[in-house]
Amino acid sequence: MKKLVVSTGAGISAESGLSTYRDAGGLWENYPVMQVASADGFQRDPALIHKFYNERRKQLVECAPNAAHYGLKELEDAFDVRIITQNVDDLHERAGSSHVLHLHGELMKVRSMTHPERVYDVRDITGGGIETSLSTRDPYGDPVRPHIVFFQEAVPNFAPAAELVQEADIFVVIGTSLVVYPAASLISYVRKGVPIYYIDPNPADTGTLPVTVIREKATEGVRKLAEILRTSH
Ligand code: APR
Repeated sequence: MKKLVVSTGAGISAESGLSTYRDAGGLWENYPVMQVASADGFQRDPALIHKFYNERRKQLVECAPNAAHYGLKELEDAFDVRIITQNVDDLHERAGSSHVLHLHGELMKVRSMTHPERVYDVRDITGGGIETSLSTRDPYGDPVRPHIVFFQEAVPNFAPAAELVQEADIFVVIGTSLVVYPAASLISYVRKGVPIYYIDPNPADTGTLPVTVIREKATEGVRKLAEILRTSH
């Protein structure tokens, strides 16, 4: 089976009701990003960060995957689909995708502050709840933090993501403004001659790269992409 590598951003979850970051009314329009999503911010006011991610978890549990997420799952019958996502939501997993690699962490997970390799589903250490605070403890009695890559922090999954892109027979980008690095550089790891598709109603400029733009919202764009892929690949 051909390897179909898909890189997704906030745009794929927009039609599920989750706001993007930089569109009008986006998350960063309503919250000071460096206060709620940076390492310095977490040092300065960890309680505010717990609160910010509690609110985002409450919103996420009210949302469901949309036809774009399900469309990518369905392509697994004809392709070896590997998803790399900048999103911290779990909508790809809830749509049933078999391979999802998160670059910026996972909203429904938290991790020990002293042993970062100890990662938990938030429900498992809050007796089924989705909110954490400075007093939340893991089974070893350690304080926890959101399992999110804050700005100013390393992106440990970038290397495996770049490797995946280099193995792609087809590369697809969906719903990202391509402004945050290193995620935005993934497109440059595509081997010469491998077709690239970019689904976005307001696509970023991809310069001289040979990209086929599908100027649609994700749900319609993935439907069109599936048609193209099933007839010509
Ligand atoms: N369908 C597809 N794409 C959409 C839709 C939609 N319905 N609505 C908006 N978009 C597109 C926008 O045109 C834009 O290109 O989604 C993209 C959203 O861009 P951003 O808000 O910048 O989100 P993203 O690129 O995922 O941000 C990257 O920035 O703040 C950090 O860690 C955060 O992972 C995030 C990273």
